[in-house]
Amino acid sequence: MIESDIKAKLSFSDGTPDIDLPIYKGTVGPDVIDIRKLYGQTGKFTYDSGFLSTASCNSKITYIDGDKGELLYRGYPIEDLANNCDFLEVCYLLLNGELPNAGQKQGFEELVMHHTMVHEQMQFFLRGFRRDAHPMSVLTGLVGAMAAFYHDEIDYSDEKAREVAQIRLIAKMPTLVAMAYKYSVGQPFIYPDNKLSYTANFMRMMFATPCEEYKVNPVLVRALDRIFTLHADHEQNASTSTVRLCGSSGTNPFAAISAGIACLWGPAHGGANEACLQMLNDIQANGGVDKIHEFIAQVKDKNSSVRLMGFGHRVYKNFDPRAKLMRETCYEVLEELGLQDDPLFKLAMTLEKIALEDDYFVSRKLYPNVDFYSGIVQRALGIPTEMFTCIFALARTVGWIAQWEEMITDPEYKIGRPRQLYVGETSRKVPNISVRK
Ligand code: CMC
Repeated sequence: MIESDIKAKLSFSDGTPDIDLPIYKGTVGPDVIDIRKLYGQTGKFTYDSGFLSTASCNSKITYIDGDKGELLYRGYPIEDLANNCDFLEVCYLLLNGELPNAGQKQGFEELVMHHTMVHEQMQFFLRGFRRDAHPMSVLTGLVGAMAAFYHDEIDYSDEKAREVAQIRLIAKMPTLVAMAYKYSVGQPFIYPDNKLSYTANFMRMMFATPCEEYKVNPVLVRALDRIFTLHADHEQNASTSTVRLCGSSGTNPFAAISAGIACLWGPAHGGANEACLQMLNDIQANGGVDKIHEFIAQVKDKNSSVRLMGFGHRVYKNFDPRAKLMRETCYEVLEELGLQDDPLFKLAMTLEKIALEDDYFVSRKLYPNVDFYSGIVQRALGIPTEMFTCIFALARTVGWIAQWEEMITDPEYKIGRPRQLYVGETSRKVPNISVRK
């Protein structure tokens, strides 16, 4: 940790002596107050349920300026990366800290594309699931099961062994996601084709059948590749913090990533794109554009639990920069497919406009987030709604592993163990069952 001469003085009104706490500066972003010695010196904890003001680690990977609406991976703005790099270059950047040169890019692609196949036994494991199981539950299971295939050979103190596990995860996620999809629709699994690009190979595994080859469309491949890039990492969000916390016990990395997938599934996190498309479909089915005002009134009603999905963010209090790029991609894909008049897209644009002019959303700084348009793009690409969060998980895997690696190699790394404010019963005796109320 960085040394610091700047201090915060903490005073107490209960007679506890004042203490000085060091303040550290990052390269950019808010300063942090180091409270690690607080308990030792005062016998008190801090309380921050939901981590509203707490930095859980120091990190060099991703930075978000929520007020500016800025997202940087290793210092590079997301817009630059989305416009000039493909997803595997972004993976290389997140894992290694620098963009690859031409030779490194080729080497990395070859390395990843050599690990795309999964153990043949995996399909028998998959067959134990019901066909109508939610693909996120299947994916959580499949990635967790990978720990059973690669456990004893991973020595976490060995950098090379960690690297192999990381490459395996990036390489096999598309295969597992496509298998989960094929299983749900009752089609045979399509083996990877390593001659294709990472994203084209994934689309082929999703959409080809043994009787019909999949024709790669570069505009659509580029769109999905961009979705992957936009979702690759996002600081210490819930699923990333889950991976770090789970991984901090020294568990198998496949198991830690599986925990991240489970967390991502929730509608307040990665499940929002699925929930957003569902919301658009519901509005469309109940009258479409004419019913938007009625829907917005419901969202604003304090007694209803309805939220405008795809709007709002814990960190962005301005446009999510990913949402702007996603809207651009949405136009490109719909044009390529001749779907410019897509009613859901028109509905989404009208809904966005109305919300952005409404004081409820303006005063709370609620802007569209990445999920507002990503569902429409994925639907146009032929990806079914229930697979959306799996696509997010596929893309976020690299972020999770980069953060896991950073944690494991941090000299200050400790098992994560939050404290609590206990408000339950104090110590009491167990009464005999005959006298219990
Ligand atoms: N629709 C209506 N009201 C909202 C919304 C929304 N989407 N989001 C926040 N609010 C209101 C909320 O009711 C509260 O109002 P009040 O102050 O009157 O009680 C205020 O705005 C602050 O909300 P909050 O829930 O305290 O904010 P949060 O930071 O805890 O929640 C959020 C962030 C993303 C969970 C929330 O905005 C939300 O539920 N959005 C919809 C789901 C969504 O789109 N999630 C995807 C997030 S982006 C993907 C990712 O990065 O993982």
